[in-house]
Amino acid sequence: MKQKVQITIDGKTIDLDVLEASEGNNVVDVRGLISEGIFTFDPGFLSTASCESKITYIDGDNGVLMYRGYPIEQLASNSNHLEVCYLLLNGELPTSDQYQAFEASIKEKQFIDKNFQNIFNGFTQGAHPMSMVGAAVSGLASLYHEETDIANADDRMTTAHRLIAMIPTLAAMAYKHGRGESFVEPDPSLGYAENFLNMCFGETGKPSAVSKTIADAMDRIFILHADHEQNASTSTVRMAGSTECNPYAAISAGISALWGPSHGGANEAVLTMLQEIGDVSRVGEYVKKAKDKDDPFKLMGFGHRVYKNFDPRATVMEESCKAVLAELGVEDEPLLQIANALEKIAREDEYFIERKLYPNIDFYSGITLKAVGIPTELFTVIFTLGRMPGWITHWNEMLSAPYKIARPRQLYLGEHKRDFVAMSDRG
Ligand code: SDX
Repeated sequence: MKQKVQITIDGKTIDLDVLEASEGNNVVDVRGLISEGIFTFDPGFLSTASCESKITYIDGDNGVLMYRGYPIEQLASNSNHLEVCYLLLNGELPTSDQYQAFEASIKEKQFIDKNFQNIFNGFTQGAHPMSMVGAAVSGLASLYHEETDIANADDRMTTAHRLIAMIPTLAAMAYKHGRGESFVEPDPSLGYAENFLNMCFGETGKPSAVSKTIADAMDRIFILHADHEQNASTSTVRMAGSTECNPYAAISAGISALWGPSHGGANEAVLTMLQEIGDVSRVGEYVKKAKDKDDPFKLMGFGHRVYKNFDPRATVMEESCKAVLAELGVEDEPLLQIANALEKIAREDEYFIERKLYPNIDFYSGITLKAVGIPTELFTVIFTLGRMPGWITHWNEMLSAPYKIARPRQLYLGEHKRDFVAMSDRG
């Protein structure tokens, strides 16, 4: 029996269906309200489902994250990023043959047109890599605009493969350009993460010197960032994509949204914060600032819109972080000491407990990336790289079924109608 709810407005009772979820919250279908001239109001969409989706599920109260039903802990321990990309895109884990064909498709698409590489010359060497990566991904639209029919499922999958294949190369090019160094071409003999690191830190003509520990840590970071339901950047991709714009432009919009320190930019902001704190003795001072309503300072890497318990990715990230630091012999990394002191205080402080503010993935990913020698300005670019399969899978899911252009309404609180006043009469 389908559940219903009723609302009564101006003496009129309206029945609304309750749509049942396979996991988590059911939703009240408010689509019928527009015909009654009624809007709902939910700035920031705290309690609004923007779409149906079968890709990822989060249970924020119990610290659960599943990609296509597979728990993130199992994927982080047993899979690799390319296999997770296949799973997100296709809904099932690949057979060996399917995986090999997918990997071959990605490897063949990872090269960037020589002329297109000049896009980076438009940026000064000090430009933030996120500005370069966003522009480069948007620029890819110029290469594939005429040949991409977004109504064609095969074209959409080709676009997905291209973006997953090219984002490491573009990210590495942005990094190299920023440092005034020459680009290193992709090496199809290397794994996805190792190839990215070699393009960033290697030299043309020299064999990869990337350690397995660091490549494995990077691949796990990609897996942990691969998708996360309707977060701000994914919702941006869906909204842009709903206008039927070029997919590379829609993804570039997602990159822009991710850059903010409240979202994907938090990993870089965590490092900046830890470096500003500078010493364990000053942690209390910064916790006090974070609690001060009159101080805009927030503890970067803490809190989450959905996780009101631990972020399961942070747990995996913390384990990986400590293993990498031990392997590199830098367990006493000062920033990790400050981070541990910060986490301890936050877990015991009423302000954080009351507001269910726990460390999120960005808290430990930043420390891990720094420990393996990744420059801070690349942190959010690495988040972009990890999230690419999620964005393009949501874009594809939306276009694979009937959809409408996203166009929210508003609560208008402005002026009533008034007549124009000539400049000479305005006093
Ligand atoms: C990501 O959505 C996703 O899934 C995102 C993401 C993904 O994978 O796509 O998980 C990636 O973006 C993780 C979050 C990274 N951001 C940060 O670490 C930045 C610091 N965090 C905060 O900016 C904040 O916690 C947010 C933005 C993450 C969540 O903000 P909400 O859900 O809008 O919560 P809120 O601002 O309403 O906070 C509720 C209360 C407020 O206090 P009161 O007004 O109730 O007194 O908690 C306080 C806030 O002031 N608060 C914090 C805090 N986060 C919230 N106080 C101090 N430090 C913080 N970090």
